[in-house]
Amino acid sequence: MPTIQFRLNGTPTAVDTHPDQTLLDVLRGRLGITSPHLGCGAGECGACHVMVDGRAMASCDMPMWSAADRDVVTLEGLGSAEQPHPLQRAFISEQAMQCGYCVSGILISAAALLKRNPSPTESEVRAALDRNLCRCGSHNRMVRAVLRAAAETATS
Ligand code: FES
Ligand code: FES
Repeated sequence: MPTIQFRLNGTPTAVDTHPDQTLLDVLRGRLGITSPHLGCGAGECGACHVMVDGRAMASCDMPMWSAADRDVVTLEGLGSAEQPHPLQRAFISEQAMQCGYCVSGILISAAALLKRNPSPTESEVRAALDRNLCRCGSHNRMVRAVLRAAAETATS
């Protein structure tokens, strides 16, 4: 099997894998990165979102050949319990989650948005989260949390 190299949360990473194996399978099954979740498995729910070269993308339908030499960031690379990302702090403050299954993907989509647009409007936040489904119906609180993180980052 070929060795595919990419950057994972800033660390050069190499994995021997079939090129058609999905990035999600490699992250979860081979590299112990468990934040991206398998939902639909068809690129339609956002539970598996990771940032690839700064854009939120579904890892469930990204083959490893397509991840080669790219910069992949997962929730593990955004923040930690000791040093949470502003979005993570805001999600806690707004209690913007219920079961939590969708939240990793939503935080990644929101982080990609704030990276390219640090002061989004509410409609821009809603558009950025449009590809992320939340079956618990927490979207309104999540939108508030993203706006809160943007506001707090702007004033810090
Ligand atoms: S599991 Fe990847 S988009 Fe749904
Ligand atoms: S918090 Fe349960 S699916 Fe979103």
